[in-house]
Amino acid sequence: MSLMVVSVACVGFFLVQRACPHTGGQDKTFLSARPSAVVPQGGHVTLQCHYRRGFNNFTNFTLYKDDRSHVPIFLGRIFQESFLIGPVTPAHAGTYRCRGSYPHSPTEWSALSDPLAIMVTGVHRKPSLLALPGPLVKSGETVTLQCSSDTVFGHFFLHSEVTFEELLHLVGELHGGGSQANYSINSTTSDLAETFRCYGSVTHSPYVLSAPSDPLNIVITGKYEKPSLSAQPGPTVQAGENVILSCSSRCSFDMYHLSREGEARELSLSAVPSINGTFQADFPLGPATHGGTYRCFGSFRTAPYKWSDPSDPLPVSVTGNPSRSWPSPTEPSSKTGIPQTPACSDWDLSGHDPLHHLLLSPASLVLQQKECCCNGPRACGGQNSESGGL
Ligand SMILES: *[C@@H]1O[C@H](CO)[C@@H](O)[C@H](O)[C@H]1NC(C)=O
Ligand SMILES: *[C@@H]1O[C@H](CO)[C@@H](O)[C@H](O)[C@H]1NC(C)=O
Ligand SMILES: *[C@@H]1O[C@H](CO)[C@@H](O)[C@H](O)[C@H]1NC(C)=O
Ligand SMILES: *[C@@H]1O[C@H](CO)[C@@H](O)[C@H](O)[C@H]1NC(C)=O
Ligand SMILES: *[C@@H]1O[C@H](CO)[C@@H](O)[C@H](O)[C@H]1NC(C)=O
Repeated sequence: MSLMVVSVACVGFFLVQRACPHTGGQDKTFLSARPSAVVPQGGHVTLQCHYRRGFNNFTNFTLYKDDRSHVPIFLGRIFQESFLIGPVTPAHAGTYRCRGSYPHSPTEWSALSDPLAIMVTGVHRKPSLLALPGPLVKSGETVTLQCSSDTVFGHFFLHSEVTFEELLHLVGELHGGGSQANYSINSTTSDLAETFRCYGSVTHSPYVLSAPSDPLNIVITGKYEKPSLSAQPGPTVQAGENVILSCSSRCSFDMYHLSREGEARELSLSAVPSINGTFQADFPLGPATHGGTYRCFGSFRTAPYKWSDPSDPLPVSVTGNPSRSWPSPTEPSSKTGIPQTPACSDWDLSGHDPLHHLLLSPASLVLQQKECCCNGPRACGGQNSESGGL
């Protein structure tokens, strides 16, 4: 199993350079796969054999497959520059090694490279991936990613673009006729705000993978100060009356997200600057049919999975017949108003003694800034330079 983890780490040329260069001498041999060692069935992958910390290609090299079910083409064949495999079949999955001949002495062959796992995806039915307790994770809290399948998988592999560089191997445990694996991540120590997928494979052929699960977006909340949420015409409406929920903030958020308690998905709308310098989005819920408790969040375009603290909860009650449907938003009503520079004229020092404000040391001011959305990706230039002078 440890062999497998090592080999999975060497997926692709750039990873090889980063993950493997310190394991041997100058002439350590590496096998790389482009564009990726994780290949969809029917796709293509290019293998190259490298030396000198991965900076040089071997012009002539041989390939070895570790398992017994050799794909005959590799036996005793010398490859030049690179080798393109494809269309890839499950028979191509497995670990490979290479050995190259040096240009200065063509009869001298290098040492055998570390193994590289070529994983072929799309062979089994996709597993499902869930976040527990949910995909909205409060900054500093821990989330469990749970991969499950209705067939028995001995292995699961988690894929992320940021949090782990390579597929993360998890042991599948029997669970109600299928398999399951949990992986807990603390959002303090990892940049979790991104998209995850998982794959499964059976015990005896670990590199023959399922299709990827549906993508799971993890959102970290609590990155910026909370917006405020209000209802028009008010939080209690007659059945059939049109309801608009307005989320607003003095922070220059690009997007607002409206969640309803008990609903898995959020509605998202672009923020529009208002004449009074706030940034707002109006969620038209249509004719009121059912009540619910709503919250909204703000985010910036540059970090779509990092959201503010939730607004205070807003209970909306409807006098009339209840229904289960979740209304979808129509286009946001365009607000009239002159776009203004972000309204960051005040620091959010609510709850603090005004005198204490004057006594803030630079260090505690930094702590205060973390509470202000103006410290977000779109910084509020004027205010930040003013505060720097305190
Ligand atoms: C490796 O070989 C490819 C051609 O297959 C070439 O484009 C590339 O520049 C070579 N890389 C190095 C570092 O020599
Ligand atoms: C590569 O192998 C071919 C024969 O297959 C040979 O003619 C050539 O000289 C070799 N090149 C190098 C750089 O070893
Ligand atoms: C997450 O990590 C931080 C920093 O290491 C720690 O203070 C916190 O207790 C951890 N949270 C959980 C739920 O383990
Ligand atoms: C994963 O975690 C959930 C919730 O804590 C638990 O019910 C489940 O049994 C765990 N599964 C495994 C395979 O550990
Ligand atoms: C700013 O204006 C919008 C309408 O343009 C209004 O809904 C909001 O309550 C106003 N906010 C403040 C703080 O006055």
